[in-house]
Amino acid sequence: MAEKAKVAILISGRGSNMAALLYASKLPDAVYEVVLVAANDPQAEGLALAAAEGVPTFALSHKGMSRADHDAAMEQAARDAGADTIVLAGYMRILTDEFVKRWEGRMLNIHPSLLPKYPGLDTHQRAIDAGDSHGGVSVHLVTPELDAGEVLGQMRVAIREGETADSLATRVRFAEHQLYPRVLSDYLGREN
Ligand code: GAR
Repeated sequence: MAEKAKVAILISGRGSNMAALLYASKLPDAVYEVVLVAANDPQAEGLALAAAEGVPTFALSHKGMSRADHDAAMEQAARDAGADTIVLAGYMRILTDEFVKRWEGRMLNIHPSLLPKYPGLDTHQRAIDAGDSHGGVSVHLVTPELDAGEVLGQMRVAIREGETADSLATRVRFAEHQLYPRVLSDYLGREN
């Protein structure tokens, strides 16, 4: 069997996508393993879960640091863990172009909209306000332009009568948890 890809997951908070990716990596046919979960907030809930599952973690607050220095520390942690792929999973930081370029083709992100619609923040409210029939989620390659890299996979989520941004976000997360491990695995498989 080919060697598994080594994935570092960057989070900022809950880490439910990280959990979905981590448990998917424990399936018998998994093509990747999670070698690090890193956060820019030492209180990020997902860190404790990763640690409980025996995954190495790294936390460094970005507060009081330059973006370049913080990115460099996160990148070093990923390299030290032996990562060949970086997966952003609710990592709410804009990355420096230099960091992104060094990992181009090896860095993925999940974004809670049907890109190219609604890059940036408040995606669910924007979809509701626009009267869209569906919101959804996209997994894409990370490039220096925000939320603009090649889309590798998407899933639509119906917007119901009386939907709020919160209720839609909750349902979109179910879709995210299905989509992200599958798209990551297909992408890594496609490269091997
Ligand atoms: C997810 O919905 C993800 O799509 C979104 O943050 C949430 C993180 O949840 N990402 C972005 O908005 C990126 N701009 P999680 O911590 O439970 O995975």
